[in-house]
Amino acid sequence: MPKKRIGVLTSGGDCPGLNAVLRGVVRAADRLDWEVLGFRDGYEGLLPEGGDYMVLDRSTTAGIMHLGGTIIGTTNRGHFAAKVRAGEKAAIPDEIIDQARRNFNHLGLDALIAIGGDGSLTTALQLHQSGFPVIGVPKTIDNDLQATAMTFGFDSAVACVADALDRLHTTATSHKRVMVLEVMGRHAGWIALYGGLAGGADIILIPEIPFDIDKVCEQVLHREKLGCKSTMIVVAEGASPRDGRQSRLTTAAGEYRLGGVGDMVGREVGERTGKDTRVCVLGHLQRGGAPTALDRILGTRFGVAAVKLVAEENFGTMVSYQNYETRAVPISEAVHRLKRVDVRGQLIATARAVEITFGD
Ligand code: F6P
Repeated sequence: MPKKRIGVLTSGGDCPGLNAVLRGVVRAADRLDWEVLGFRDGYEGLLPEGGDYMVLDRSTTAGIMHLGGTIIGTTNRGHFAAKVRAGEKAAIPDEIIDQARRNFNHLGLDALIAIGGDGSLTTALQLHQSGFPVIGVPKTIDNDLQATAMTFGFDSAVACVADALDRLHTTATSHKRVMVLEVMGRHAGWIALYGGLAGGADIILIPEIPFDIDKVCEQVLHREKLGCKSTMIVVAEGASPRDGRQSRLTTAAGEYRLGGVGDMVGREVGERTGKDTRVCVLGHLQRGGAPTALDRILGTRFGVAAVKLVAEENFGTMVSYQNYETRAVPISEAVHRLKRVDVRGQLIATARAVEITFGD
């Protein structure tokens, strides 16, 4: 195998397991006697004269597997934003691609491994179409990427939701309260569904099933009649009422962000049922902290598989996880559209079988 020099970057929102991927890439590359450069802050690291990077080797990646975040930094904004909103694309300007190409060639790189979610992989695809030898690695806590059964980071986020529900349960039961837990999930309800199932939620509201607040309140009162001491409602940030829109907040910078649906549900339930209701927004706790064992293993497998794809020169592909195995799929298959919860699927049926309702 000829000696190679490869670049790697982490892009978009961070998630637990990124460092496990970096470590996997470095260990697999080291066995082939290849060099690895880690570009700082996602694709942005490709732009400064000569590139902004750190050498990733056995020593700089030692002891990082259990660490959340990413040692090379990331960003979900900057010059390479290829996706504006779900379904909307923005072409990366030619001068940005040319600047990245100059650095890429100057550094003598043979390949670029881009670790990211939907937006970052859309960028990876565009770079590949512009002639860059790119391999994608799927990452997102939301688990909403097509063409892979699972992304790393998701399991850690679910564990965080389940832990939060365990804690909320005890206080809710003591006070005979309704608890609303708002979790992440912009367009897909995977975190709410898995976390809610694991944490014993009673009502789960997800973007795929627009909810009727009357139905939510009926269920709360029904449970009270049954003698239940508390009701736990998990709501994905992207869930919306049947007759309304997703709740958005405006930041100080004037940007829109999803958020507020938990407050809305808590307020309505409290007012309509007369039940003492509290709201908790889990936010970025779901993205931080140590990865679960599953995410460490998945991350390691993805890193090793990405190096194998570089060795095979199978560029324009992404590592995918299917039937407990990693394999290559075209990046275009992953970013084509989001993977959403199948409302007629087994998982929803299982949840309904254990008396979880969805506000429908
Ligand atoms: O896509 C992952 C995600 O965690 C979403 O679930 C969430 O809406 C978003 O990122 C938050 O992004 P930011 O870190 O920019 O607030």
